[in-house]
Amino acid sequence: MANIVLVGAQWGDEGKGKVVDIYTEFADAVVRFQGGSNAGHTVVIGDKKIILHQIPSGILHPNKLCIIGNGVVLDLETLGEEINGLKSQGFFQNEAQLLISEAAHIVLPYHRSLDVGKEKKAGENKIGTTGRGIGPAYEDKISRSGIRLIDLFDEKTFKESLEKKVAEKNFLLTRYLNQEGFDASVLFEKYSALAKRFKANVVNTSVIINQLIEKKKNILFEGAQGTLLDIDHGTYPFVTSSNTVAAAACIGSGIGPTKIDRVIGVVKAYTTRVGEGPFPTELSDEIGIRLKERGKEFGATTGRPRRCGWLDIVALRHAIRVNGFTNLALTKLDVLTGLKKIKLCRAYKFKGKEISEFPSSIQILKNCEPIYEEVDGWQEELTGIKKYSDLPKNAQRYIRIIEKLLGVKFILISLGFEREETIILTSPFPAKN
Ligand code: IMP
Repeated sequence: MANIVLVGAQWGDEGKGKVVDIYTEFADAVVRFQGGSNAGHTVVIGDKKIILHQIPSGILHPNKLCIIGNGVVLDLETLGEEINGLKSQGFFQNEAQLLISEAAHIVLPYHRSLDVGKEKKAGENKIGTTGRGIGPAYEDKISRSGIRLIDLFDEKTFKESLEKKVAEKNFLLTRYLNQEGFDASVLFEKYSALAKRFKANVVNTSVIINQLIEKKKNILFEGAQGTLLDIDHGTYPFVTSSNTVAAAACIGSGIGPTKIDRVIGVVKAYTTRVGEGPFPTELSDEIGIRLKERGKEFGATTGRPRRCGWLDIVALRHAIRVNGFTNLALTKLDVLTGLKKIKLCRAYKFKGKEISEFPSSIQILKNCEPIYEEVDGWQEELTGIKKYSDLPKNAQRYIRIIEKLLGVKFILISLGFEREETIILTSPFPAKN
């Protein structure tokens, strides 16, 4: 048995969905532990493209248990849409496959309006959020005034909390943010009905996950977003509102840190970022455009084009430190095919001095210039390659240089969107008898 945490090592969109889908074959359960419908995990199976927002990416394997942990802020309306989408594509035929934590906080429509309204008000200083209400929902959670899924099953508590919340939010929305207000009774009816729809799936997931651990099952903990979007360790304030690092798997699913066996960081072969905020290796030239087009770099949740740039080793070293990665998975290596030269940022230059640690100050990061190492590219398409030794020599060299600079080994290399376009070097889960 093994309990494995898998998180993004960059600014999200590293291709975690595909890696989770592949590893689910070796797992008994997959757990989402933070974030919400801001995430967009894309999995491609044959001619089907599935985008998951809140449901773990393991759901496409019919007999694997998928759990939404207490650390997720749950949007019940989009959950319904996600489930309908899955069913219409022939997945999720067994409703018992999904369990949802009763302690998860709920995203309500006023959270979305607050998110959008605050961004409008911030003008040029906006964060570039997904507009899904994630920040405002976590604000309520931390200010000890949020509404949890379990509250929806207690009519009186839910009604009273909602009335209080709506009065407060309407004041902010209508008087400060120039947005429409909400009617508490309409929300009460709608969300009570939604809660009923999912009642059979709502349990104390911490108990269930710990029982699975006792039974020596293999569990995969699936992170959303990426390390540089972490509220503590990311490029604050241009971050999301949850902890996205590996340690959050424990808090967001109700298990102890002693239960984690391995932590895998998913690294895209170059860097991308959606939304605002500093990005030292960003490319605004034709190579940036090429990466965006070849890599189909458009947000899975919002459709926004992703900003693209070279691989940032300084940022990745920071990610290794704050997550304690034991292994790495490399994705989208195929996107780099055709480039004559490939650059890796091994340090930054700030005010004439070389720095090798990722700065905490956004002001410093904004003014850092990347110091690059340049390597030869490869021209061969990587599609169909099944063995590491069949990769072009320069692609192997690129991988080895990254490993050497980071001091952590890759155990999986992804060469395309499809399940088959993957080289699994080592399985993270022990073989079953
Ligand atoms: P929020 O999470 O919607 O509040 O957005 C905060 C920042 O995180 C913005 O820059 C978003 O673009 C970014 N973000 C949120 N979720 C994702 C994701 O799943 N992938 C990439 N960026 C994300």
